[in-house]
Amino acid sequence: ATAQDPYDVVVIGGGPGGYVAAIKAAQLGLKTACIEKRGSLGGTCLNVGCIPSKAMLNNSHIFHQTQHDTKARGIDVGDVKLNLPVMLAAKNKSVSALTGGVEYLLKKNKIDYIKGEASFASATEIDIALLEGGNSQVSAKNVIIATGSEVTPFPGMEIDEKQIVSSTGVLDLQEVPKKLVVIGAGVIGLEMGSVWSRLGSEVEVVEFLGTIGGQGIDGGIAKNFQKILTKQGIKFSLNTKVMGAEKKDGKVVLAIEGAKDGKKSEIAADVVLVAIGRRPVTKGLNLEKIGVEVDDKGRIVIDSEFNTSVKGIKCIGDVTFGPMLAHKAEEEGIAAVEYIHSGYGHVNYKAIPSVVYTHPEVAWVGKTEEDCKAEGIEYNVGSFPMVANSRAKTNNDTDGLVKIITEKSSDRILGGHIIASAAGDMLSEIVLAMEYGSSGEDVYRTCHAHPTVSEAVKEAAMMATTGKAINF
Ligand code: FAD
Ligand code: NAI
Repeated sequence: ATAQDPYDVVVIGGGPGGYVAAIKAAQLGLKTACIEKRGSLGGTCLNVGCIPSKAMLNNSHIFHQTQHDTKARGIDVGDVKLNLPVMLAAKNKSVSALTGGVEYLLKKNKIDYIKGEASFASATEIDIALLEGGNSQVSAKNVIIATGSEVTPFPGMEIDEKQIVSSTGVLDLQEVPKKLVVIGAGVIGLEMGSVWSRLGSEVEVVEFLGTIGGQGIDGGIAKNFQKILTKQGIKFSLNTKVMGAEKKDGKVVLAIEGAKDGKKSEIAADVVLVAIGRRPVTKGLNLEKIGVEVDDKGRIVIDSEFNTSVKGIKCIGDVTFGPMLAHKAEEEGIAAVEYIHSGYGHVNYKAIPSVVYTHPEVAWVGKTEEDCKAEGIEYNVGSFPMVANSRAKTNNDTDGLVKIITEKSSDRILGGHIIASAAGDMLSEIVLAMEYGSSGEDVYRTCHAHPTVSEAVKEAAMMATTGKAINF
């Protein structure tokens, strides 16, 4: 594409937001390019996020279960040993298969995949420092910025990715650390703490707040979740501030302080994981020069149609407002392209699911009880424990519950909160129900196959609506 013959759409960033936007644009007949500097597609999610973490979660779970939970099932196994290099290689293989798959999809949809770092020369011209060396320039009628996010550093703590690691280094530790200390009891801390705890590390999670699970989790669910993880052997130091770190005799010594009482102490660790959040990536894009507005948290400011402050430039995903989740970035990618193509797109921010992929998983959508109270909404809660679900019981996998919150006056479902081994998949029907504006009654009068764990969703809905469940 040249200044005379520009692309219809140039997407900057090939993560779940960017690559999905590029494919949708091409499918709608728009001439499209996608610029990515990483050397592989799929962004944080496929390369160093969702996918490698889920590979490690799945395989560490199988390892742990084989070690501790086979005898009563009538399976006698010999010595169960960890082969960490093979487990890491299996993770890497799932990453390369999926990133390669995305590259194939771009080719199939005739999208120009440009490997290099993009920077705005003007609102319609983009300079690219090519990975293979040299520079190039493209021009575009529309640009979508999808440059994602990166690890928030801990002030004064240098991440060496060996002893003091981010989510990237913790996915690639070459030995099981004897003691792993995690700073931050958010999603990354709990998922990766679980992985290494199952593989044999002593894990301690230090969290500034009094609860675990990060933003948006229901208070009761968070407490229940903490109990389950504690039972699994993870130690929590809540209401605790990390003040700094020092390397001493092959260990990392963290100085900590009680957030409430100011009591000072130290914890020694073999490896420290810094998991205190992520921040938007806009460095090098030259946004100041073209006048794209950024807020005080570094997020690109957009309106409800994904427009930045500069005409023709849209923005989606982790680099702008909202939860930093792959599926949220994907929804926005499609909607932003639809706005370009037809002037209309839609994302329902009230029905974006969150899932923590521990065992059991924790999944939620919509309002928490705390939200309802704060907003003065009168609500009903239907809560059904997994231990009363026949399938969970036969599988001997009974930790957790389904909790459904409905509006008292209308029975409309306001939120769903699940702890169960398949919580992420079970949640989808509540997300769909909310998308359709369903009532608790709609869900409980829907026939659910028996015996399935999803029957717990039906029973929780029945409980919310009628005050009683059948099997509890
Ligand atoms: P990104 O995926 O960050 O992609 C942006 C891309 O833009 C990057 O590849 C970057 O190299 C590229 N880029 C940046 N600047 C430029 C430039 N100037 N020129 C060219 N290219 C550029 N989310 C979930 O929903 N489920 C999960 O299970 C989950 N697990 C996670 C686990 C971990 C350990 C981490 C770290 C994150 C996880 N996430 C998960 C979050 C998820 O990865 C992000 O929300 C998602 O990747 C955001 O997509 P994006 O397209 O906005 O940005
Ligand atoms: P997070 O925002 O979920 O949690 C960070 C935690 O660190 C918070 O609880 C915060 O209170 C705590 N914290 C902050 N500063 C601290 C300090 N100085 N001392 C002690 N604790 C401190 O961030 P996290 O876990 O780094 O994950 C980043 C994002 O990546 C998530 O918010 C999510 O959007 C995404 N992600 C999603 C996953 C999923 O969907 N399953 C998995 C992993 C990441």
